[in-house]
Parts: sequence; structure tokens; C-alpha cells
Amino acid sequence: MDKIVIEGGYRLQGSVRINGAKNAALPIMAACLLLDGTSRIKGIPNIVDIQTQSKILKNLGGQIKRNEDGAFEIMFRDGENNDKYTAPYELVRKMRASICVLGPLLTKRHKAKVSYPGGCVIGQRPVDLHINGLRALGAQIETTEGYINATADKLKGTDISLKGKYGSTVLGTCNVMSAAVLAEGTTIIADAAREPEVQDLANFLNKAGAKISGIGENKLTIEGVRELHGIDYEIIPDRIEAGTFMIAGAITKGNIILENVRTDHMTAVIDKLREIGVEINTIGNSARVKGNSLYHNVDITTLPYPGMPTDMQAQFMALLCTVEGKSIITEKIFTDRFMHVSELVRMGANIRVEVSSAIMRGTPYLSGANVMISDLRAGAGLVLAGLVAKGTTTIDRVYHLDRGYERLEERLSNLGAVIKRIHD
Ligand code: UD1
Repeated sequence: MDKIVIEGGYRLQGSVRINGAKNAALPIMAACLLLDGTSRIKGIPNIVDIQTQSKILKNLGGQIKRNEDGAFEIMFRDGENNDKYTAPYELVRKMRASICVLGPLLTKRHKAKVSYPGGCVIGQRPVDLHINGLRALGAQIETTEGYINATADKLKGTDISLKGKYGSTVLGTCNVMSAAVLAEGTTIIADAAREPEVQDLANFLNKAGAKISGIGENKLTIEGVRELHGIDYEIIPDRIEAGTFMIAGAITKGNIILENVRTDHMTAVIDKLREIGVEINTIGNSARVKGNSLYHNVDITTLPYPGMPTDMQAQFMALLCTVEGKSIITEKIFTDRFMHVSELVRMGANIRVEVSSAIMRGTPYLSGANVMISDLRAGAGLVLAGLVAKGTTTIDRVYHLDRGYERLEERLSNLGAVIKRIHD
């Protein structure tokens, strides 16, 4: 297993290009199941989750290749693969997001068998809202032998609410919206997720011939159409990758430029960084991030978009561990998502978890240690802590990081970090 080794204490300088959004690319790739013909999609990052999604789609009859210009070409031939409708456990267990083939398979091939994605380290991850939404459209769904088995001769538009205990559901909205685009009649999804990645999927589907309105609002109206066609598309920049690099600039008191960012998708993150004392200036689709010698402690609550993303929680925690005074992070999406806390404590952080809040008291410095990654964003938090810790940090279980960040160590190294990957 690979490890990442970091010598902390180097200021970052220079510029880095942000990739297309992983969480937009995954449902958009799944939505290609709905399209007849070839789509060329730019901006899909070269990460393990995308490889997993490609394998799932190839199993379902898709022809997928990366062109020389980096664009993905995805082709499904109408009517040829109706006997293929399974997303197997071996692949789904690697990536929960593979659940987003459920809606497209059901509406296009009238049958779907998708491994039930179990819980994961960031907490319970039920799919009841996905299932309720698809049932409301007319699907028959049962769970047997660890699989969600869904069938539907014809889906029919209806009014659906996707409100759950913790707000809406991102992939649930993607699933139900993708199913509704080919359903008969009009579907109204109330309490839809508004995340930019859901908007990107809706824009992709509309370009392919769908009729979705209310994009970016919490009520989506979808008029069913008969067919969709292949298109050229470019994925939005990854706001979580951009936020991670912003904190890398901030925590090292560096001065970096991020290219290919949509700062309008990052208001909560940028406002909080500014409150802490980080300078951020947007210039077109670039952003300059300038650290300061003095930062202020803040409180953060993760919320559905446009609130603070839960996927930025671990990265903010790493930063706040180094800021004098008491900061509190409250997690309102995945209330147990604190696996990184014990590893940060090994690096000298002062953090106490109470129910769904982490209470931090900034320490003058973190110190390098051997730490282990529990999940993707926890890994990002540990790398950020390593960038500023005194001495050497050795990070194990890097495969979590490779699921969502392309060549992270190489890009940080280009910015002046002393970081390398060791192949065991
Ligand atoms: C997506 C993102 C993930 C991000 C999360 C929240 C992808 C590939 N993943 O995950 O990175 O952290 O949104 O922004 O896009 N819930 C239910 N029932 C359901 C579905 C969800 O109760 O059927 C709950 C979840 O347990 C959680 C909350 O709703 O507490 C939000 O989860 P959801 O938006 O569904 O997360 P994902 O779409 O799986």
C-alpha cells in the first residue's frame, strides 16, 4: 500500500489547475445510460472513483475511452444492452456513488439490480429516499440477497418529496431526476438537493434533450420526453478540490492561484476562510489565496448547499487546530463523520467530540506523526495538517485519497510542498 510522506513547514506558492467535479462526473457518466449515441465529456478527473464508474458502465454495455484531448467518450447503443442491468457488489462496495445507475437503468432498461450500498466509515448511509422516490414514479422495488431489485414497465410522472431527516439527498435527487426525464408526464420533485453537481447533471440532461426546469432551486419540474441523444459537455470545476487547495494555501500562509474555479459555487467556504483571515480574490475563473500570519477562531456548521459542505469539514478542522482560541465544528449531514479527529490528536491537536460537534482549541503547532486515512476527505484533512506540522508526517491508506484527488502529492509538490509518495 502506498504512503505519503510530508516534511511540514513550507509555504505554498504558484498556481494549480482545478479538475472537473468528481461528484458531478459520476452521476453524469451514469446518465449516459439514458442517451442514445456518443457523448464527449470534458473535465472528468483521472481518479479511482471514475475508473470504478467506468467499469460499472462497461459491465452494462457501455463503450468508454479517454481521447487524446482528455475528454471521455461514452457510447451506449439503444436497445442493444437491455439484458444488462446489474451493478455488482464487487464494484458498488468500492464506491457508494455507483447507486446513481439505479434511476437511469430503471427508466431506460425497465430493470435494475444494484448492490445495496452498505454503511460506511462516515456514518449510516441509507437509500430510503432514493427508493421512495422511484417507487412514487411507479417502480416495484425489493431488496433481496443484498441487492436492490427494481422493475418498471413504464414510469409515470408524479409529485415527490425527497426530504429526509438531514435535508435532501444529492444522489437521491440525481437518481429520481434521471428516472423522471424519460417517464410519461410531469414529475415535480419537492425538497430537491440544490448542490452544483445536481445542477450540472440537470444541465447535461437538458442539453441531451430533457425538459427540466427549476435547476438550482428546491423544486424541480421534469416533463418526460421520449428519448435523449449524445452530446458534448464540460463538467463544472470541483468545488471541494478547490476548497482543499484554498486551505492548503491558507494553512501554510502561502500565496497561490487556483485556475478553473467557480467561486460562485463556494460562497460558504470562501466567506468562512475570509472570516478566519485568509485573503481570497476572484479574477475571472481564477482565485488568488493569500495566507496571513494571524487567524481568528470561528464556528462552522455543515449544511446542504448553499451551506458549508460536509466534504470540507475535515479540511477546515485541520486549519482550525492551528488557530488560537476555541472553534466548534458541528456536523449536520453525517453526524458521526469525525474519524479524522483521533489522527489529528496524534499530531498534537486539541479536539474533543461531543455528540455531533468537535470542539477545538488551537495549539501553537502540530507535530508530524504516523497517521492513517479513514475516508477520502479525512485524508485531505491529514495531508493539510502534515503540510504545516513540525517534522515528518507519514500517511497510510492513501488509496482513500486516490479515490477523489488526482495526483494530489504531485500538485502540492509543484506548489512548493515537500511531499512524496512511497510505493510499498
Ligand atoms: C453526496 C456526495 C458526498 C457528500 C454528500 C452530502 C457524491 C458522489 N457524494 O453523497 O460526497 O458528502 O452528498 O453533501 O455526490 N440520507 C437519507 N436517506 C437517503 C439518502 C440520504 O437519510 O436515502 C441522508 C444521509 O444519511 C445524509 C443526508 O441524507 O445524512 C445527505 O446524504 P446524501 O445527500 O444522500 O449523500 P450522497 O448523495 O450519498
